[in-house]
Amino acid sequence: MGELSRIGVAIDTALLEKFDELIAGRGYTNRSEAFRDLIRDELIRQEWESPDAQVVGTVTLVYDHHVRQLSERLTNMQHDHHHNILSTLHVHLDHDNCLEVLVVKGRSAAVRKIAEALIATKGVKHGRLTITTTGAGL
Ligand code: NI
Repeated sequence: MGELSRIGVAIDTALLEKFDELIAGRGYTNRSEAFRDLIRDELIRQEWESPDAQVVGTVTLVYDHHVRQLSERLTNMQHDHHHNILSTLHVHLDHDNCLEVLVVKGRSAAVRKIAEALIATKGVKHGRLTITTTGAGL
């Protein structure tokens, strides 16, 4: 952490009570860390909204591997973008369902496009892209 600045914030009492409840539920022991995390989250969000920003993230997919050629289709799509997909984790959830977590990296626009295509593939039951930061700028 760099040099610390102390700031005073005027905030509606009822709003602050709700905020305190929220952060207590999430396990924060003080407001300062919760404020810092909220600010970082917004900065990261702003960063990856720029199409050329370099981002890292994960794509989570749940699918039924019995759907005809689905596993093969998903694997082919990943090979087409091997520069952007750094690693994959595959878990056989039950007899039918698979969970896959892909670690992705690259231009924000490219990463989003790959994630959207994977998630939209017929037979994928649920998918989610989570973009985070390399942490270098925070
Ligand atoms: Ni599986």
